[in-house]
Amino acid sequence: MEKIIDETKQGQPLVLDQKKENQRKLFIESYGCQMNFSDSEIVASILAKEGFNTTQRLEDADLVLVNTCSIREKAEQTVRKRLEKYNAVKKINPKMKVGVLGCMAERLKSKFLEEEKIVDLVVGPDAYKDLPNLIEEVDAGRNAVNVILSKEETYGDISPVRLQSNGVSAFVSITRGCDNMCTFCVVPFTRGRERSRDPQSILEEIDDLVAQNFKEITLLGQNVDSYLWYGGGLKKDFDKASEFQKATAVNFAKLLDMVAAKHPKLRLRFTTSNPQDMTLDVIHVMAKHKNICKYIHLPIQSGSDRILKEMNRLHTRQEYFELIDNIKNIIPECAISQDIITGFPTETEEDHQDTLSLMEYVKYDYGFMFAYSERPGTLAERKMDDDIPEEVKKRRLSEIIEVQRKHSEYRHRAFIGQTLEVLIEKESKKSNAHWSGRTTQNTVAVFPKEEYKIGDFVMVRIDECTSATLLGEAIGYSDNN
Ligand code: SAH
Ligand code: F3S
Repeated sequence: MEKIIDETKQGQPLVLDQKKENQRKLFIESYGCQMNFSDSEIVASILAKEGFNTTQRLEDADLVLVNTCSIREKAEQTVRKRLEKYNAVKKINPKMKVGVLGCMAERLKSKFLEEEKIVDLVVGPDAYKDLPNLIEEVDAGRNAVNVILSKEETYGDISPVRLQSNGVSAFVSITRGCDNMCTFCVVPFTRGRERSRDPQSILEEIDDLVAQNFKEITLLGQNVDSYLWYGGGLKKDFDKASEFQKATAVNFAKLLDMVAAKHPKLRLRFTTSNPQDMTLDVIHVMAKHKNICKYIHLPIQSGSDRILKEMNRLHTRQEYFELIDNIKNIIPECAISQDIITGFPTETEEDHQDTLSLMEYVKYDYGFMFAYSERPGTLAERKMDDDIPEEVKKRRLSEIIEVQRKHSEYRHRAFIGQTLEVLIEKESKKSNAHWSGRTTQNTVAVFPKEEYKIGDFVMVRIDECTSATLLGEAIGYSDNN
């Protein structure tokens, strides 16, 4: 083994452990949630040990891997389009092999090979450690599939290769899978049962990131608040754990507290929180540590109790309001964002009005809004008719987006005149004379570069805003540097 410097990526060169012989080029890209982007870094690490060097150029690739998303039909269509592009490139580069990873791989399994001739390899989210064997199969001229979901796999022992990193912020996965079974959602089928990662391996990964000078990490899980380590095993089997295991178990509040206390200058974020799993303890831990960002992504999906029930979201509108009130009482400056689905089966105008009135109560800082997309195999698909016409879904969606735009602007306006700490992440997309970074509330702030550099914590006086961005001027370093 020898150390090779890979300079094909932007930012800092990466040092990869690689076999000298048999060097091949891997092009890997990801669609969908942050977990997919994080998983691709695990895959790159597994394949680096097999002699694969990552490339940014599709045309140069020996192996192309696409990490896919199934959450909505449109996400799947995007991937299908991408496969067409690979097909075109394969005409110039016939030795190129193509593999599909992630949720579409898990959902479609070997059907993928029949439907898309370009695909040589299908690998589900828990089977990435088998990639070296699967690639050997492909090299021998056979197609290869592994979509076995695991009860244990958390990739806790793999140190991810930070792909296209800005060297400032990184993701760390802490749970995998989801047990919630929201009736609209394909994730429990594609990512399996929920399991948590050993806190020791999480702390080690974070220590390593801090040593590399990373300034912000986001703890990731489909349902991050549900994190529970009791020595391994599925979350659903916790009841069967020994008294000792129960007494020494680490829940999300405890994990967050441990990480925040160990690295007081490291900014910490986490996502995604399902309201039914978010405890008061977590909110108190957030309030206790300055370095835990004051921002919670708290999907609601619908403001109607009846629809929440049909969705199998295990909380009511009233309970959600209580959670919001607790957050705002304990952390008044906390920003909150939402996910909302419009046009879930049977949704009436009255249900839709409930969603709008819930938004008026919370006045979210921002949100991610979608028209309902029926997913094969989900409970909603099996038990309910997708009965809301597309134009009604779209109209309700645009009403919700408009209300959110108004609220984002309202929230952002309140920052004008304040001086906020911003972590500089990158150059502004619109101007190479400006930096772009985020405040603790996760709001993007843009300001003139002056003498500052990427990775600095600076105090920015906010002078103006748009519905998406704060504009201002840096007045000095923050005391977090
Ligand atoms: N674990 C998160 C959500 C993960 S999926 C939670 O607790 O809510 C991300 C978002 O995609 C969901 O919050 C939902 O708003 C949206 N989504 C999921 N399935 C969908 C579907 N079938 N149609 C439209 N949007 C969907
Ligand atoms: Fe999906 Fe609900 Fe889990 S939205 S990821 S089943 S919390």
